[in-house]
Amino acid sequence: MLSNSLIELDRAHLVHPVSSFRGHEKLGVRILKSAKGATVTDMTGHQLIDGFAGLWCVNAGYGHDSIVEAAAKQMRELPYATAYFDIGSEPAIRLASELADRAPGDLNHVYFTLGGSDAVDSTIRFIRYYWHAKGQPQRDQFISIEQGYHGSTTAGSGLTALPAFHAGFGVPYDWQHKIPSHYAYRNPVGSDPAAIIASSLQILKDKIEAIGPERVAAFYAEPIQGSGGVLVPPPGWIKAMRELCRSYGILFVADEVITGFGRTGPLFACADEDIVPDFITTAKGLTSGYVPMGAVFMADHVYDTIADFAGDAAIGHGYTYSAHPVSAAVGLEVLKLYEGGLLENGRRAGARLMAGLEGLRSHPLVGDVRGRGMLAAIELVTDKDKKTPLPAAAAPARKVFDRAWENGLIVRAFANGVLGYAPPLCCTDSDIDTIVERTLKTLDQTLEDPAVRAAMA
Ligand SMILES: Cc1ncc(COP(=O)(O)O)c(C=O)c1O
Repeated sequence: MLSNSLIELDRAHLVHPVSSFRGHEKLGVRILKSAKGATVTDMTGHQLIDGFAGLWCVNAGYGHDSIVEAAAKQMRELPYATAYFDIGSEPAIRLASELADRAPGDLNHVYFTLGGSDAVDSTIRFIRYYWHAKGQPQRDQFISIEQGYHGSTTAGSGLTALPAFHAGFGVPYDWQHKIPSHYAYRNPVGSDPAAIIASSLQILKDKIEAIGPERVAAFYAEPIQGSGGVLVPPPGWIKAMRELCRSYGILFVADEVITGFGRTGPLFACADEDIVPDFITTAKGLTSGYVPMGAVFMADHVYDTIADFAGDAAIGHGYTYSAHPVSAAVGLEVLKLYEGGLLENGRRAGARLMAGLEGLRSHPLVGDVRGRGMLAAIELVTDKDKKTPLPAAAAPARKVFDRAWENGLIVRAFANGVLGYAPPLCCTDSDIDTIVERTLKTLDQTLEDPAVRAAMA
């Protein structure tokens, strides 16, 4: 009764992100009630392993009392402090300092946001300001990568390169350019890492030359493209792209909103890749999704250029909830948990997950298995030689997701038949094995789908 009335209230009033409004009205909402570790329970009592950590964000897992205590303590003591007017709060200052200590190279300055989209949006503003400060305001062209996701703000959605975020919204703007993804499984140059790197370098170079090197402000890359289908570049790819940008004096932004905070192993995926970008954007795992927060990391030279140019004038970029003390208190506690064993557990569990998913390679529907750490995907095809995607009639985003859900597993089911995994770092061996077993069951059921059968005949 309660559950039914909630479904009706949701239908009538709650607008869901990135949803078909009419489709959602028809389907109705699935309401989650509680969670512990890597397991969530819905209103009907159905228990599921959360193989996607909410929205690749609950890296620490659910139900950590110490995080709840940290938030409650901060709420009692000081629930809010602005960071405007040269005011601050202890947790925000401490978190900025702890993060700067751990960030690659000289990314020593942290601007806190509410999430990933406004972190990316903030970089666009800081970068425009930076080039203005450098006396090169004509550097106003931005390059990002097809299949990339950089959030959903008005400007950031144009750096994003997924059609649903553009159609009908009037983006991308003419200053937002794209180059093709490294997408190793479907790269026209084949899957050889050196060939992919050489090709991406040439394409980026050509793009920069076509725009005019003196016009290009910045290049954006995710260390692993998440929302585009968990596309993992070959080792050395991001370093090569970073160096090319450096040679042109173009700022390099690593968008680590998904890859940060243990998702691929270390706190920052850039550490694995041995690069120091000019900016890193983070969110999600920063507070493990318990409360909203994002962070922009800025290199010394960027900060100093902006600071020296502005002098006594205020740099007009700010949010009421920037450096929120409760979010910062949660961030500090989450960082403690990561370094107190969760990163290590995530590395071990990630190796088990990758091995388990590799074991599914021989399944008739599995065309590709890819990932790093606790970020992985399998790509389903109906013909392995031709790499034929699942037919639209198989409606993977809906039907494969539903089958997995019924089997007690949450995965990200992309419309093109990619299944994405980003489980909490706290997963036990048994959690990981259950994810793999339930995936296999879901694949076997998908194999029986008449639309899939017809495509394979
Ligand atoms: C790489 C990347 N950047 C930015 C964002 C936007 O973050 P948010 O949804 O917190 O606004 C996301 C979200 O998934 C992301 O994956």
